[in-house]
Amino acid sequence: MHILVTGGAGYIGSHTCVVLLEAGHEVSVLDNLCNSSAEALRRVEAITGRSLRFVEGDIRDPAKLAQALEGGVEAVIHFAALKAVGESCEQPLAYFDNNISGTIALMQAMEAKGVPRLVFSSSATVYGEAKTNPVDEQAPLSVTNPYGRTKLVMEQLIGDWSASQSGASAVLLRYFNPVGAHPSGRIGEDPQGEPNNLMPYVAQVAVGRRERLRVYGNDYPTPDGTGVRDYIHVMDLARAHVRAVEYAAGNRGCRAFNLGTGRGYSVLEVITAFEEATGRLVPYDIEARRPGDVAALTADPSLAQVELGWRAELDIAAMCEDAWRWQSGNPEGYA
Ligand code: NAD
Ligand code: UFG
Repeated sequence: MHILVTGGAGYIGSHTCVVLLEAGHEVSVLDNLCNSSAEALRRVEAITGRSLRFVEGDIRDPAKLAQALEGGVEAVIHFAALKAVGESCEQPLAYFDNNISGTIALMQAMEAKGVPRLVFSSSATVYGEAKTNPVDEQAPLSVTNPYGRTKLVMEQLIGDWSASQSGASAVLLRYFNPVGAHPSGRIGEDPQGEPNNLMPYVAQVAVGRRERLRVYGNDYPTPDGTGVRDYIHVMDLARAHVRAVEYAAGNRGCRAFNLGTGRGYSVLEVITAFEEATGRLVPYDIEARRPGDVAALTADPSLAQVELGWRAELDIAAMCEDAWRWQSGNPEGYA
Protein backbone atom coordinates (compact mmCIF):
# COMPACT_ATOMS: atom_id res chain seq x y z
CA MET A 1 0.00 0.00 0.00
CA HIS A 2 0.99 3.66 -0.35
CA ILE A 3 0.54 5.12 3.13
CA LEU A 4 0.64 8.74 4.25
CA VAL A 5 2.11 9.09 7.73
CA THR A 6 1.28 12.44 9.36
CA GLY A 7 3.77 13.28 12.11
CA GLY A 8 6.10 10.68 10.62
CA ALA A 9 9.26 12.51 11.75
CA GLY A 10 8.23 12.20 15.40
CA TYR A 11 9.04 9.52 17.94
CA ILE A 12 6.42 6.86 17.22
CA GLY A 13 5.97 7.93 13.59
CA SER A 14 9.63 7.45 12.67
CA HIS A 15 9.70 3.93 14.12
CA THR A 16 6.48 3.11 12.30
CA CYS A 17 7.98 4.35 9.02
CA VAL A 18 10.83 1.87 9.50
CA VAL A 19 8.45 -1.05 9.95
CA LEU A 20 6.19 0.06 7.07
CA LEU A 21 9.14 0.35 4.68
CA GLU A 22 10.52 -3.00 5.81
CA ALA A 23 7.08 -4.57 5.20
CA GLY A 24 7.25 -3.31 1.59
CA HIS A 25 4.81 -0.40 1.82
CA GLU A 26 5.38 2.91 0.08
CA VAL A 27 5.57 5.79 2.57
CA SER A 28 4.88 9.52 2.35
CA VAL A 29 5.33 11.74 5.41
CA LEU A 30 3.65 15.06 6.21
CA ASP A 31 5.22 16.81 9.21
CA ASN A 32 5.77 20.46 10.13
CA LEU A 33 8.75 19.51 12.35
CA CYS A 34 7.29 21.46 15.30
CA ASN A 35 8.50 18.72 17.65
CA SER A 36 10.93 16.73 15.54
CA SER A 37 13.83 16.82 13.11
CA ALA A 38 14.15 15.84 9.45
CA GLU A 39 17.29 13.99 10.57
CA ALA A 40 14.99 11.27 11.95
CA LEU A 41 13.68 10.63 8.43
CA ARG A 42 17.19 10.49 6.98
CA ARG A 43 18.00 7.85 9.57
CA VAL A 44 14.81 5.91 8.76
CA GLU A 45 16.05 5.75 5.17
CA ALA A 46 19.53 4.69 6.29
CA ILE A 47 18.15 1.91 8.53
CA THR A 48 15.83 0.50 5.88
CA GLY A 49 17.86 1.23 2.73
CA ARG A 50 14.62 2.57 1.24
CA SER A 51 13.48 6.07 0.49
CA LEU A 52 10.30 7.85 1.49
CA ARG A 53 8.63 11.03 0.26
CA PHE A 54 8.69 13.93 2.73
CA VAL A 55 6.33 16.90 2.52
CA GLU A 56 7.21 19.53 5.11
CA GLY A 57 3.99 21.25 6.16
CA ASP A 58 1.12 21.56 8.56
CA ILE A 59 -1.91 19.24 8.58
CA ARG A 60 -4.09 22.37 8.85
CA ASP A 61 -2.80 23.59 5.46
CA PRO A 62 -5.15 22.18 2.75
CA ALA A 63 -2.61 22.70 -0.03
CA LYS A 64 0.05 20.73 1.82
CA LEU A 65 -2.46 18.01 2.66
CA ALA A 66 -3.52 17.71 -0.97
CA GLN A 67 0.13 17.49 -2.00
CA ALA A 68 0.84 14.84 0.64
CA LEU A 69 -2.13 12.74 -0.52
CA GLU A 70 -0.94 12.68 -4.13
CA GLY A 71 0.62 9.68 -5.79
CA GLY A 72 -2.11 7.14 -5.04
CA VAL A 73 -2.15 7.25 -1.23
CA GLU A 74 -4.50 4.47 -0.04
CA ALA A 75 -4.40 4.91 3.74
CA VAL A 76 -3.34 7.44 6.35
CA ILE A 77 -1.69 6.82 9.70
CA HIS A 78 -2.29 9.99 11.69
CA PHE A 79 0.29 10.73 14.40
CA ALA A 80 0.57 14.51 14.01
CA ALA A 81 -0.51 16.16 17.26
CA LEU A 82 0.69 18.18 20.21
CA LYS A 83 1.01 15.84 23.18
CA ALA A 84 2.20 17.60 26.36
CA VAL A 85 -0.47 17.33 29.05
CA GLY A 86 0.81 20.28 31.14
CA GLU A 87 1.15 22.57 28.13
CA SER A 88 -2.38 21.66 27.06
CA CYS A 89 -3.70 23.02 30.39
CA GLU A 90 -1.90 26.33 29.77
CA GLN A 91 -2.74 26.63 26.06
CA PRO A 92 -5.92 24.62 25.43
CA LEU A 93 -6.83 26.56 22.29
CA ALA A 94 -3.51 25.70 20.65
CA TYR A 95 -4.27 22.03 21.35
CA PHE A 96 -7.86 22.23 20.10
CA ASP A 97 -6.69 23.95 16.94
CA ASN A 98 -3.68 21.78 16.17
CA ASN A 99 -5.18 18.44 17.10
CA ILE A 100 -8.91 18.76 16.43
CA SER A 101 -8.93 21.30 13.57
CA GLY A 102 -5.96 19.46 12.08
CA THR A 103 -7.83 16.15 12.15
CA ILE A 104 -10.93 17.71 10.58
CA ALA A 105 -8.76 19.18 7.79
CA LEU A 106 -7.21 15.76 7.27
CA MET A 107 -10.59 14.01 6.98
CA GLN A 108 -11.78 16.69 4.54
CA ALA A 109 -8.72 16.16 2.37
CA MET A 110 -9.11 12.37 2.53
CA GLU A 111 -12.77 12.62 1.55
CA ALA A 112 -11.93 14.94 -1.36
CA LYS A 113 -9.32 12.47 -2.64
CA GLY A 114 -11.38 9.35 -1.87
CA VAL A 115 -8.84 7.91 0.59
CA PRO A 116 -10.93 5.55 2.76
CA ARG A 117 -8.62 4.23 5.53
CA LEU A 118 -7.47 6.01 8.65
CA VAL A 119 -5.40 4.73 11.56
CA PHE A 120 -5.42 7.16 14.46
CA SER A 121 -3.01 7.65 17.40
CA SER A 122 -5.22 7.72 20.43
CA SER A 123 -4.14 7.28 24.02
CA ALA A 124 -4.96 5.49 27.23
CA THR A 125 -5.67 9.00 28.50
CA VAL A 126 -9.22 8.54 27.13
CA TYR A 127 -9.89 6.20 30.08
CA GLY A 128 -9.30 9.08 32.52
CA GLU A 129 -9.22 7.73 36.06
CA ALA A 130 -9.98 4.08 35.38
CA LYS A 131 -11.96 2.43 38.18
CA THR A 132 -10.38 -0.99 37.69
CA ASN A 133 -7.29 -2.40 36.00
CA PRO A 134 -6.57 -3.73 33.45
CA VAL A 135 -8.91 -1.66 31.28
CA ASP A 136 -10.52 -3.04 28.16
CA GLU A 137 -12.02 -1.04 25.29
CA GLN A 138 -15.50 -1.12 26.89
CA ALA A 139 -14.35 0.83 29.96
CA PRO A 140 -16.01 4.22 30.41
CA LEU A 141 -14.26 7.11 28.69
CA SER A 142 -13.54 10.44 30.36
CA VAL A 143 -11.04 13.25 30.26
CA THR A 144 -8.78 14.81 32.87
CA ASN A 145 -7.04 17.50 30.79
CA PRO A 146 -7.37 19.40 27.46
CA TYR A 147 -4.92 17.07 25.66
CA GLY A 148 -7.06 14.09 26.67
CA ARG A 149 -10.14 15.96 25.53
CA THR A 150 -8.65 16.40 22.06
CA LYS A 151 -8.02 12.64 21.84
CA LEU A 152 -11.55 11.77 22.93
CA VAL A 153 -13.14 14.33 20.60
CA MET A 154 -11.00 13.16 17.68
CA GLU A 155 -12.02 9.54 18.32
CA GLN A 156 -15.68 10.62 18.17
CA LEU A 157 -15.24 12.77 15.05
CA ILE A 158 -13.42 9.96 13.26
CA GLY A 159 -16.19 7.54 14.25
CA ASP A 160 -18.88 9.83 12.83
CA TRP A 161 -16.94 10.55 9.67
CA SER A 162 -16.09 6.93 8.90
CA ALA A 163 -19.75 5.96 9.47
CA SER A 164 -20.82 8.51 6.86
CA GLN A 165 -18.54 7.16 4.12
CA SER A 166 -19.45 3.94 2.41
CA GLY A 167 -16.36 1.77 2.32
CA ALA A 168 -14.46 3.82 4.89
CA SER A 169 -12.62 2.27 7.78
CA ALA A 170 -10.94 3.73 10.83
CA VAL A 171 -8.82 2.15 13.55
CA LEU A 172 -8.32 3.99 16.85
CA LEU A 173 -5.16 2.82 18.60
CA ARG A 174 -5.06 3.61 22.32
CA TYR A 175 -1.41 3.55 23.31
CA PHE A 176 -0.46 2.99 26.91
CA ASN A 177 3.13 4.15 27.69
CA PRO A 178 5.39 4.00 24.64
CA VAL A 179 9.10 3.72 25.49
CA GLY A 180 12.37 2.38 24.03
CA ALA A 181 13.93 2.93 20.64
CA HIS A 182 14.92 1.13 17.44
CA PRO A 183 17.48 -1.56 18.36
CA SER A 184 20.07 0.10 16.10
CA GLY A 185 20.11 3.08 18.47
CA ARG A 186 19.87 5.43 15.47
CA ILE A 187 16.35 6.72 16.07
CA GLY A 188 14.59 7.29 19.37
CA GLU A 189 12.66 9.71 21.53
CA ASP A 190 14.09 13.24 21.45
CA PRO A 191 12.04 15.41 23.82
CA GLN A 192 12.57 19.16 23.61
CA GLY A 193 13.72 20.64 26.93
CA GLU A 194 13.07 18.81 30.17
CA PRO A 195 11.32 15.48 29.54
CA ASN A 196 7.82 15.05 30.95
CA ASN A 197 7.86 11.28 30.71
CA LEU A 198 9.60 8.79 32.95
CA MET A 199 11.81 6.75 30.58
CA PRO A 200 13.49 9.65 28.74
CA TYR A 201 14.08 11.32 32.11
CA VAL A 202 15.65 8.16 33.52
CA ALA A 203 17.87 7.84 30.43
CA GLN A 204 18.97 11.49 30.65
CA VAL A 205 19.91 11.05 34.32
CA ALA A 206 21.86 7.90 33.46
CA VAL A 207 23.80 9.69 30.70
CA GLY A 208 24.59 12.61 33.03
CA ARG A 209 22.45 15.21 31.28
CA ARG A 210 20.22 15.58 34.36
CA GLU A 211 21.27 15.21 37.98
CA ARG A 212 18.51 13.20 39.65
CA LEU A 213 15.12 11.75 38.87
CA ARG A 214 12.12 13.07 40.76
CA VAL A 215 9.79 10.21 41.67
CA TYR A 216 6.35 11.73 41.89
CA GLY A 217 4.81 10.19 44.97
CA ASN A 218 5.32 6.94 46.92
CA ASP A 219 1.99 6.97 48.72
CA TYR A 220 -0.24 5.58 45.97
CA PRO A 221 -2.28 2.44 46.67
CA THR A 222 0.18 0.32 44.64
CA PRO A 223 2.55 -2.43 45.90
CA ASP A 224 5.50 -0.05 46.46
CA GLY A 225 3.52 3.20 46.58
CA THR A 226 4.77 4.56 43.23
CA GLY A 227 2.66 4.92 40.07
CA VAL A 228 2.11 1.84 37.93
CA ARG A 229 1.93 2.00 34.11
CA ASP A 230 1.86 -0.39 31.17
CA TYR A 231 5.07 0.39 29.26
CA ILE A 232 5.18 -0.76 25.67
CA HIS A 233 8.20 -0.95 23.38
CA VAL A 234 7.92 1.49 20.49
CA MET A 235 8.88 -1.25 18.01
CA ASP A 236 5.96 -3.39 19.19
CA LEU A 237 3.76 -0.32 18.79
CA ALA A 238 5.13 0.29 15.30
CA ARG A 239 4.32 -3.30 14.28
CA ALA A 240 0.76 -2.83 15.52
CA HIS A 241 0.31 0.05 13.05
CA VAL A 242 1.19 -2.20 10.14
CA ARG A 243 -1.39 -4.70 11.35
CA ALA A 244 -3.93 -1.92 11.86
CA VAL A 245 -3.54 -0.49 8.38
CA GLU A 246 -3.90 -3.97 6.90
CA TYR A 247 -6.96 -4.58 9.13
CA ALA A 248 -8.48 -1.30 7.88
CA ALA A 249 -8.03 -2.52 4.32
CA GLY A 250 -10.14 -5.60 5.06
CA ASN A 251 -12.74 -4.30 7.54
CA ARG A 252 -15.20 -1.42 7.37
CA GLY A 253 -16.37 0.74 10.27
CA CYS A 254 -14.49 2.15 13.23
CA ARG A 255 -12.80 0.02 15.92
CA ALA A 256 -10.70 0.94 18.96
CA PHE A 257 -7.86 -1.21 20.27
CA ASN A 258 -5.70 -0.99 23.36
CA LEU A 259 -1.98 -1.29 22.74
CA GLY A 260 -0.12 -2.35 25.84
CA THR A 261 1.56 -5.45 27.25
CA GLY A 262 -1.04 -6.12 29.95
CA ARG A 263 1.71 -5.96 32.61
CA GLY A 264 2.25 -2.96 34.87
CA TYR A 265 5.53 -1.68 36.32
CA SER A 266 5.93 0.84 39.11
CA VAL A 267 8.32 3.78 38.86
CA LEU A 268 10.74 2.03 41.23
CA GLU A 269 10.55 -1.18 39.18
CA VAL A 270 11.39 0.80 36.03
CA ILE A 271 14.41 2.36 37.75
CA THR A 272 15.62 -1.08 38.87
CA ALA A 273 15.04 -2.59 35.41
CA PHE A 274 16.94 0.28 33.81
CA GLU A 275 19.88 -0.07 36.22
CA GLU A 276 20.02 -3.83 35.64
CA ALA A 277 19.79 -3.51 31.86
CA THR A 278 22.41 -0.78 31.54
CA GLY A 279 24.70 -1.07 34.56
CA ARG A 280 24.12 2.66 35.21
CA LEU A 281 22.87 4.12 38.46
CA VAL A 282 19.79 6.34 38.44
CA PRO A 283 19.82 8.53 41.57
CA TYR A 284 16.38 9.73 42.58
CA ASP A 285 14.42 11.64 45.21
CA ILE A 286 10.87 10.94 46.28
CA GLU A 287 8.77 14.04 45.76
CA ALA A 288 5.10 15.00 46.00
CA ARG A 289 2.57 13.48 43.62
CA ARG A 290 2.35 15.15 40.21
CA PRO A 291 -1.10 16.77 39.80
CA GLY A 292 -3.33 14.81 37.44
CA ASP A 293 -1.47 11.49 37.76
CA VAL A 294 -3.45 8.32 38.41
CA ALA A 295 -2.18 5.54 40.67
CA ALA A 296 -2.25 2.77 38.08
CA LEU A 297 -3.26 2.24 34.48
CA THR A 298 -2.72 -1.00 32.60
CA ALA A 299 -4.18 -2.42 29.41
CA ASP A 300 -6.21 -5.45 28.61
CA PRO A 301 -4.69 -5.91 25.13
CA SER A 302 -6.60 -9.10 24.23
CA LEU A 303 -8.86 -7.50 21.59
CA ALA A 304 -5.83 -6.45 19.54
CA GLN A 305 -4.54 -10.00 19.76
CA VAL A 306 -7.83 -11.47 18.54
CA GLU A 307 -8.67 -8.92 15.84
CA LEU A 308 -5.29 -7.62 14.69
CA GLY A 309 -3.27 -10.76 15.39
CA TRP A 310 -0.86 -8.56 17.33
CA ARG A 311 0.65 -8.79 20.76
CA ALA A 312 3.60 -7.11 22.43
CA GLU A 313 6.75 -9.22 22.35
CA LEU A 314 9.49 -7.07 23.87
CA ASP A 315 9.95 -6.95 27.65
CA ILE A 316 10.98 -4.22 30.04
CA ALA A 317 14.67 -5.21 29.75
CA ALA A 318 14.58 -4.67 25.97
CA MET A 319 12.75 -1.36 26.47
CA CYS A 320 15.49 -0.14 28.84
CA GLU A 321 18.40 -1.49 26.77
CA ASP A 322 17.12 0.11 23.58
CA ALA A 323 16.27 3.42 25.27
CA TRP A 324 19.81 3.45 26.66
CA ARG A 325 21.49 2.56 23.32
CA TRP A 326 19.71 5.52 21.74
CA GLN A 327 20.40 7.92 24.65
CA SER A 328 24.06 6.97 25.12
CA GLY A 329 24.78 7.09 21.37
CA ASN A 330 22.91 10.38 20.93
CA PRO A 331 23.27 12.25 24.25
CA GLU A 332 21.81 15.43 22.74
CA GLY A 333 19.22 13.64 20.60
CA TYR A 334 19.23 14.57 16.90
CA ALA A 335 20.92 17.94 17.59
P1 NAD B 1 6.00 13.46 18.61
O1 NAD B 1 5.81 14.86 19.07
O2 NAD B 1 7.38 12.90 18.65
O3 NAD B 1 5.43 13.29 17.13
C1 NAD B 1 4.37 14.07 16.64
C2 NAD B 1 4.81 14.62 15.28
O4 NAD B 1 3.76 15.38 14.73
C3 NAD B 1 6.03 15.55 15.38
O5 NAD B 1 6.98 15.16 14.41
C4 NAD B 1 5.46 16.92 15.10
O6 NAD B 1 6.41 17.75 14.45
C5 NAD B 1 4.27 16.60 14.21
N1 NAD B 1 3.18 17.56 14.23
C6 NAD B 1 2.51 18.06 15.31
N2 NAD B 1 1.57 18.91 14.92
C7 NAD B 1 1.62 18.96 13.57
C8 NAD B 1 0.87 19.66 12.58
N3 NAD B 1 -0.10 20.54 12.90
N4 NAD B 1 1.17 19.44 11.28
C9 NAD B 1 2.15 18.60 10.93
N5 NAD B 1 2.90 17.92 11.82
C10 NAD B 1 2.62 18.10 13.12
O7 NAD B 1 5.00 12.55 19.45
P2 NAD B 1 4.88 10.96 19.53
O8 NAD B 1 5.25 10.55 20.90
O9 NAD B 1 5.53 10.33 18.37
O10 NAD B 1 3.30 10.83 19.43
C11 NAD B 1 2.66 10.51 18.21
C12 NAD B 1 1.16 10.43 18.45
O11 NAD B 1 0.90 9.46 19.46
C13 NAD B 1 0.54 11.74 18.94
O12 NAD B 1 -0.73 11.87 18.34
C14 NAD B 1 0.40 11.51 20.43
O13 NAD B 1 -0.65 12.28 20.98
C15 NAD B 1 0.09 10.03 20.47
N6 NAD B 1 0.44 9.41 21.76
C16 NAD B 1 1.71 9.48 22.25
C17 NAD B 1 2.02 8.91 23.47
C18 NAD B 1 3.42 9.00 24.04
O14 NAD B 1 3.57 8.80 25.24
N7 NAD B 1 4.45 9.28 23.25
C19 NAD B 1 1.03 8.24 24.19
C20 NAD B 1 -0.26 8.15 23.66
C21 NAD B 1 -0.54 8.74 22.43
N1 UFG C 1 7.11 9.91 36.75
C1 UFG C 1 8.02 10.23 37.74
N2 UFG C 1 9.00 11.12 37.44
C2 UFG C 1 9.11 11.72 36.22
C3 UFG C 1 8.17 11.39 35.23
C4 UFG C 1 7.17 10.49 35.53
O1 UFG C 1 7.95 9.71 38.85
O2 UFG C 1 10.03 12.54 36.02
C5 UFG C 1 6.07 8.91 37.05
C6 UFG C 1 4.65 9.44 36.92
O3 UFG C 1 4.23 10.02 38.13
C7 UFG C 1 3.89 8.17 36.54
C8 UFG C 1 4.91 7.36 35.74
O4 UFG C 1 6.18 7.88 36.09
O5 UFG C 1 3.57 7.44 37.70
C9 UFG C 1 4.71 7.49 34.23
O6 UFG C 1 4.70 8.87 33.88
P1 UFG C 1 4.83 9.36 32.36
O7 UFG C 1 4.83 10.84 32.39
O8 UFG C 1 5.96 8.67 31.69
O9 UFG C 1 3.50 8.79 31.68
P2 UFG C 1 1.98 9.08 32.03
O10 UFG C 1 1.35 7.75 32.28
O11 UFG C 1 1.81 10.12 33.05
O12 UFG C 1 1.49 9.76 30.67
C10 UFG C 1 1.24 9.00 29.53
C11 UFG C 1 1.43 9.84 28.27
C12 UFG C 1 0.39 10.92 28.20
C13 UFG C 1 -0.98 10.36 28.40
C14 UFG C 1 -1.03 9.59 29.68
C15 UFG C 1 -2.40 9.01 29.90
O13 UFG C 1 2.71 10.42 28.24
O14 UFG C 1 0.44 11.51 26.90
O15 UFG C 1 -0.07 8.55 29.63
O16 UFG C 1 -2.43 7.70 30.13
F1 UFG C 1 -1.90 11.36 28.45
